[in-house]
Amino acid sequence: MKLYRRRWPVPKNRELTEMDRKIMFYEEQGHLVPTPKLIKTPEQIAGIIESSKINTGVLDLVESKIKAGMSTAEIDKLVYDFTVGHDAIPAPLNYEGFPKSVCTSINEVVCHGIPSEDEILQEGDIINVDVSTIYKGYFSDASRMFIIGKTTPQKEKLVRVAKECLEIGMKVAKPYCFVGDIGHAIERHAKKNGFSVVRDLCGHGVGLEFHEEPDVVHYGRQGTGMLLVPGMVFTIEPMINMGTWKVFIDADDDWTVVTEDELPSAQWEHTFLMTEKGLKILTQ
Ligand code: MF3
Ligand code: CO
Repeated sequence: MKLYRRRWPVPKNRELTEMDRKIMFYEEQGHLVPTPKLIKTPEQIAGIIESSKINTGVLDLVESKIKAGMSTAEIDKLVYDFTVGHDAIPAPLNYEGFPKSVCTSINEVVCHGIPSEDEILQEGDIINVDVSTIYKGYFSDASRMFIIGKTTPQKEKLVRVAKECLEIGMKVAKPYCFVGDIGHAIERHAKKNGFSVVRDLCGHGVGLEFHEEPDVVHYGRQGTGMLLVPGMVFTIEPMINMGTWKVFIDADDDWTVVTEDELPSAQWEHTFLMTEKGLKILTQ
């Protein structure tokens, strides 16, 4: 028999706080609760905010330059130069062997697209640019969609609904809610609009590492998944598909995630801080 080890041990050397009591209560009820490391100190939060400001600067720069005829390698260069110019490091570069500084995912590519000289943005494309930054050891992560010129009404709707999914997920995330509350709200909105939610990839804790606990899944049941408490920093990044939710990884590069039916996909992402009042966007 394996003994259960408390994720939130009774704090020594200090009085119990209101937050301790709540977390201990939920753990007692059998819920997954954060470990102390997932609750950031004010100093760590300040560092993540600095990192996020650079990350937002990168996305604003990409937004100002992106256009038809540009290659995704040019986007990669913009990201690399801006980031390094601000004494920061693009987090994707060499991450588990990822070869570039940013993920660029066009149309049926869901995420983790690799920038290339040979990939030229075309009128009507929808593209996700996913930027992640390390500054003084602190990580931030956000992505936006861009519509190149004019696209079809269906693709426009997909981009809009994916953004609404992020906003809705953000609104339901109150202190002492669960990851499943966010996922449930997102899935509901996607389905209501005739779209599906990718299940194989999720949001994540972020800040001291690129990917920390919890897994922020974008589907599911209310009251399930990890308890979210003030001081936690994590992303919400729903990937919404026009057709099936099923995806596969391109066998040639082992990175690019593509929809199984090759219909388009859209994604928006922010890094958030949970506060006493709800989520604060750090990457805007
Ligand atoms: N921003 C992506 C995420 O949220 C990370 C992709 S970076 C890669 O996890 F190197 F893994 F491609
Ligand atoms: Co992310």
